[in-house]
Amino acid sequence: MKILVTGGAGYIGSHVVRGLVSAGHQPIVLDDLSHGNSARIENTPLLELDLASAEAKDRLVAAFKENAIEGVIHLAARKSVGESVSKPEYYYQQNINSVNNLLFAMKETGVLNLVFSSSAATYGSPDVPSVDEDYNCKPINPYGETKLIGEWMIADSVRAWGLKAVSLRYFNVAGAGFKDLADTAVANLIPIAFTAIHEGKAIQVFGTDWPTQDGSCVRDYIHVSDLADAHISALEHLTKSTSGHTVLNVGSGKGSSVLEVIQAIRDVTKLDFVVEHVPAREGDPATLCADVSKIERVLGWKAKHSLQEIVASHWDAISQ
Ligand code: UFG
Repeated sequence: MKILVTGGAGYIGSHVVRGLVSAGHQPIVLDDLSHGNSARIENTPLLELDLASAEAKDRLVAAFKENAIEGVIHLAARKSVGESVSKPEYYYQQNINSVNNLLFAMKETGVLNLVFSSSAATYGSPDVPSVDEDYNCKPINPYGETKLIGEWMIADSVRAWGLKAVSLRYFNVAGAGFKDLADTAVANLIPIAFTAIHEGKAIQVFGTDWPTQDGSCVRDYIHVSDLADAHISALEHLTKSTSGHTVLNVGSGKGSSVLEVIQAIRDVTKLDFVVEHVPAREGDPATLCADVSKIERVLGWKAKHSLQEIVASHWDAISQ
């Protein structure tokens, strides 16, 4: 299938693009290259465009027609939780206008298959050990709010004009499927920890008296290659379905604490480094883990990589 991948030159998007090519599909990337890098997508055609801009809808319509696009995987978004708190208007403008432009263009051209990159940030701070898709979402920051609103916009279009969609709620994505596609953003725990080690600084643990087994926060870490595979499965599921919006968690189903991640880094690298306990970060939920029974049932998809493999793949990629 000919698939438009928005945000395809980013860390996750570029893994999705390679996954599509391996599965025999023909991706076309749309990216504004503000965080993406065209080197990540090699010879895949690139449409350079800010999807939230005023011109985006018309340019999308033209691109859908010219390329005979059959489906869209929409990842392009602003995704820094902290930045979303300080610049909420920017996050709404970017993450909502982009979905809006996309839906207008898909409706106009009759492109009916959509995989949407949503987030576990839609849940907020759930009070259950593992959260399923029916849990009442109460996001606690503008980033999570924009992702939940994106899901609502999509659900409404599914009801109104026959769009078919899968929203994938990503948990904590990490690792590298290819050496040249590692996460260079240094915005999440594993890249932050490796950067600290590289610079001879301490790895900071945000909070040590959380109500968890070892007092540090628990998250569900998912290898980016497993996540990319989930997109391909979701797309293939859509092509077989006639209607509907399906929301699916994408996680490993296993929680790991910050201290366990740090231990995995120690085990994998055999390096000596300092760990510092610092006060808890504002807005962090104690535990955020996926109930993955629905995605296993609906897509037959299951995470294959362990936390050790996630850490090792990141280490391998940045050590080249
Ligand atoms: N942490 C530390 N020290 C650090 C960095 C992070 O202890 O230097 C802790 C955090 O407190 C948290 C865990 O490591 O408990 C993971 O933190 P990240 O910043 O890597 O990720 P978050 O869980 O805050 O958020 C990530 C994505 C969001 C997504 C969410 C879904 O950044 O976009 O996962 O689970 F919504």
